[in-house]
Amino acid sequence: MRPRIGILGAGQLALMLAQAGKALDVEVICAGQPGDCAEQVAEVIPVDLDDAAAVAAFAAAVDVVTIESENIHADVLQGLNLYPNARAVGIAQDRLLEKQFFHACGIGTAPFAPVDSLEDLKHALEVTGLPAILKTRRMGYDGKGQARLRSSDDVADAWAEVGRVPCILEGMVNFEEEVSLIAVRSRSGQVVFYPLIENHHREGILRTSIAPFVNEKLQHQAERYLDVLFEKLEYVGVLAVEFFVVDGALLANEMAPRVHNSGHWTIEGSGTSQFENHLRAIVGGKLGNTESRPTVMLNCIGSMPSESETSKFPELFRHDYGKEARPGRKVGHLTFPASAHAAIAEWQRRLAGLIPR
Ligand SMILES: Nc1ncnc2c1ncn2[C@@H]1O[C@H](COP(=O)(O)OP(=O)(O)O)[C@@H](O)[C@H]1O
Ligand SMILES: [Mg+2]
Repeated sequence: MRPRIGILGAGQLALMLAQAGKALDVEVICAGQPGDCAEQVAEVIPVDLDDAAAVAAFAAAVDVVTIESENIHADVLQGLNLYPNARAVGIAQDRLLEKQFFHACGIGTAPFAPVDSLEDLKHALEVTGLPAILKTRRMGYDGKGQARLRSSDDVADAWAEVGRVPCILEGMVNFEEEVSLIAVRSRSGQVVFYPLIENHHREGILRTSIAPFVNEKLQHQAERYLDVLFEKLEYVGVLAVEFFVVDGALLANEMAPRVHNSGHWTIEGSGTSQFENHLRAIVGGKLGNTESRPTVMLNCIGSMPSESETSKFPELFRHDYGKEARPGRKVGHLTFPASAHAAIAEWQRRLAGLIPR
């Protein structure tokens, strides 16, 4: 019998998981809403992801369940045959628990303090110093739910901007680079790593990922960190950790208990994509090789360039998620072999023009 995999969510990550599923002997079904982009390749069953009974009914019809977003209420995840497990997701969806967990694993972070009130925020500044960044503990993504503080005069505005909900204040890190490590652990404990990836963000949104980020010492350090996280979380599936490189060392920023935007280049750039390896991991299969070629990924934010424009560049792979254009929204990505310097530079310029200011 082909394993039936149920994904909670039907956005672009579910879409690319479902595409990867086509090459494997698995069936992928998504829980989402009519019109979600995964509909293009998979069955999408209408499910309210806040409704524990509806999610349980969806889960009962599949063999294993996985997620495309960590922002699902932990209560809804209890009791499901879920990979990665509900505890791992619960930690990764709360920036305070996540940072505390990094410390418990011996992994450094920016200085941080919990903030539940305006008073807390004033005190937290003593821990973090300035500049600082206030982030909602939950539900943040693509730089949403964040406010930056340059001086102590900014506290009231920042607290209002994030909506006066439980937060974490972090000291702003003056990083040399932002990098991520994507790794996969199978149900039998096999672990594979992709090379470190160099990431460039603007306005809190990932714009460009370049692989590999070549630094043997940091690659080794990041892999050991992921080993610890995998062990302590009894983790199965793809795990992505974002790091800041500061003074030549790694500080963890956040982890994603799922396939990650900075790993989209693996579809063309690796022996096995992060999507395929995630599916292999959660159905109890053997993981595929992660040997990789130098590759660059550019995100299309807001709208997609036209097909007639992109077709002029034979070295480019175009991924259109089929989503409606909207400012700030990730609607697709372009992947290039890293040797295609001229085409990459030109597309970076063109895509920058699409960014709303
Ligand atoms: N403590 C920090 N110091 C410096 N830059 C930061 C810090 N926290 C976040 N950023 C910047 O904002 C981006 C988005 O923040 P992040 O915490 O990763 O949230 P999200 O969940 O939205 O990706 C980061 O990739 C980084 O560029
Ligand atoms: Mg991030």
